[in-house]
Amino acid sequence: MNMLDLIIKKKNGESLSKEEIGYMIQGYTAGNIPDYQMSAMLMAICFCGMDDEETTFLTMAMTDSGDRLDLSRINGIKVDKHSTGGVGDKVTLIAAPVVAALGVPVAKMSGRGLGFTGGTIDKLESIPGFRTDISEEEFIRFVNTDGISIMSQTAELAPADRLLYALRDVTGTVDSIPLIASSIMSKKIASGSDAIVLDVTVGSGAFMKTEKEARELASCMVRIGKLAGLETRALITDMDEPLGRFIGNSLEVMEAIEVLKGKGPEDTREVSLEIASQMLLAGGRAKDSDEAKALIDGCISDGRALDALCRLIKNQGGNTSVTDDTTLFKKAGIIKDLTAEDDGFVNAIHCEMVGNCVKLLGGGRQVKGEEIDPSVGLELLKKKGDPLEKGDVLARIFACDEEKLEAAEKLLSRAYVIGREKVQKGPLILGIIS
Ligand code: URA
Repeated sequence: MNMLDLIIKKKNGESLSKEEIGYMIQGYTAGNIPDYQMSAMLMAICFCGMDDEETTFLTMAMTDSGDRLDLSRINGIKVDKHSTGGVGDKVTLIAAPVVAALGVPVAKMSGRGLGFTGGTIDKLESIPGFRTDISEEEFIRFVNTDGISIMSQTAELAPADRLLYALRDVTGTVDSIPLIASSIMSKKIASGSDAIVLDVTVGSGAFMKTEKEARELASCMVRIGKLAGLETRALITDMDEPLGRFIGNSLEVMEAIEVLKGKGPEDTREVSLEIASQMLLAGGRAKDSDEAKALIDGCISDGRALDALCRLIKNQGGNTSVTDDTTLFKKAGIIKDLTAEDDGFVNAIHCEMVGNCVKLLGGGRQVKGEEIDPSVGLELLKKKGDPLEKGDVLARIFACDEEKLEAAEKLLSRAYVIGREKVQKGPLILGIIS
């Protein structure tokens, strides 16, 4: 068997066998298949797809590329959540502490930014001192003592995904159903939780641009989860405009803190609390959504949810004072407003362009392993449906470099679509697949 033949086979639209997929994943993980050949294979998969059987083989080969975490030392039903990616998606930073505060253990492995979307690990690392590269021992200890821990993928867990994820990020090979499904499900199976809630985003700020594709991805992941014995459910959520008001690593942490204090933007609250509610149901902590919602309201209003976030931050070396004093986050040196050139209404905000703006500012990676700047990002003061008068501030740009600011400003002004008529926002939660 050799990789060149496999690339050509996939390029010609043929299916790969279990043995061929196993050969490719083992070879790449061991460093025997170079990045350029794997990049060509990823691109062929993006164009030609994979059938259900191939996607399952790929997922299992990626899971088996490393160890599986044994969470049996943690009592209770361990519930995980994972998003297929979005812009301004700070849901984990809210849902995880809420669920932990209500006694459902959260042992979560998260990722870095991918393509134009952000990643929870990059966001958490914007908290001064916060360590995401903790050991498995620490991870289990923190969940046992404080009900919550979030770590980055270790070298041992689904290493094939860790390598492919970084390669896909910089080769334009993210938006493929088999690649997303195998990436997410391989690490979820390896990381040992009992149940998982998937947030499958759809729209201009998601990898799935249509609801049909999002449902297909959700069904594929639910099917793989069930095959692996995981209680799996997926929510389809709207990502046609960025979630919430802030986009960028530290800015999103600040917004999440606001929501945990009972404030923050309505859309961020709605999606985060729906995901938290599904996690409580999956963990057997609530019998129906009404009970889940009442529990969630209670733990936010009496401060238990924020306390859970503080315990997560403290255990992992971060400065918990950030929850009261946002000046402790690294600050962007340049702040510039983008204003409306005319009266009208915001008809749409092209969400992928907004994600790419943050990337251009330095908040995401252009090449593998690049350092990012946690302080840069955007505040969206006007969102879809909002009325505008000429000169109103549409968005605020937080930058550290004049050249990057200029590029981001140009792109952001194209992302806002302004019209004469008011448009209605659609629902945020489009369905649940279980
Ligand atoms: N999240 C992941 O972990 N992998 C993907 O491919 C997309 C989102």
